[in-house]
Amino acid sequence: MKLNPNFVNIFSDITSKAAIASFSYVGSGNKNKADDAAVKVMRNSLNELDIKGRIVIGEGELDDAPMLYIGEKVGNSNGEEIDLAVDPIEGTNFVAKNMPGGISVLAAAPKNGLFNSPETYMHKLAFSGEVENDALDIDFTIEKNFKNLADSLNKNLEDLTICLLDRPRHNKIIQTAKNFNIKMKLISDGDVAGALLVTDKNFSVDLFLGIGGGPEGVIAASALDCYNCNFKGKFIFATDQDKLRAKKMGIDDFDKKYDLKDIVSGDSIFSATGITNGDLVRGVKKNNNKFMTETLVTHKSQNLVKKIEKFTVIK
Ligand code: FBP
Repeated sequence: MKLNPNFVNIFSDITSKAAIASFSYVGSGNKNKADDAAVKVMRNSLNELDIKGRIVIGEGELDDAPMLYIGEKVGNSNGEEIDLAVDPIEGTNFVAKNMPGGISVLAAAPKNGLFNSPETYMHKLAFSGEVENDALDIDFTIEKNFKNLADSLNKNLEDLTICLLDRPRHNKIIQTAKNFNIKMKLISDGDVAGALLVTDKNFSVDLFLGIGGGPEGVIAASALDCYNCNFKGKFIFATDQDKLRAKKMGIDDFDKKYDLKDIVSGDSIFSATGITNGDLVRGVKKNNNKFMTETLVTHKSQNLVKKIEKFTVIK
């Protein structure tokens, strides 16, 4: 089943509206208020659509998320059955601190087309389609992955650049990269955008790797699919509670490694609007009550990757 191409504009309008709603909180130091504003607008907009929508990745479970919780039904129940993965603000710190990289994101697929990711961490690898899918693996040593990447790309190790979240849990990766003189792009947050840096040579990133949020992994995978890039993930179930929740979601192999096609199985649309300026998209520009947004949108079945500029007047 394919998603109606009209959803490209519809979903890009929704992330654009959510970005504008959170823009008043850029630099406010208050990430919760910024997130609330984006969540409300995204939810109201989704509820106006002629769809039978279901949130498969959202703000958390019903207990801790009153809106856009996992399992919430959205839309007016007329129309296509669509699964949605939403992140009304990806990079809440970026927005609260007025730093580059805050985006509003949504991914959609026909029912059952997106993996229902538990709210746990995930080991991730993202790389371009130029690299053979089997060359890299989450279970290979870091050294082996780096060497295979260099061989696949016909590059010297010191000419590689990797991108990863700057976290103590990545010390071993960072040390290994230093030993090989591999360049690093260490990001403080925002690993959806980080993973997407492998999509275009202009970003000069050969591999995105490390541990980040599982839901963010699924959202990134839906866009990477459109660029014919590769994505591999493995969830980390650290506690018994994590395992229990995973079981409830139908996961019983806790060591399973997921390929892109296990995560996004058919058609999908991805939409990301900049809130603050970033590598992928420009942030919201405001002039009195006039707003300009930039949105990156992809649609797998149309082989579509494009940026949409939108001018909005708020009355
Ligand atoms: P939020 O926008 O929800 O704050 O997430 C930002 C983020 O950097 C994600 O991009 C990433 O997957 C996750 O947090 C990493 O988590 P942690 O900060 O615990 O390492």
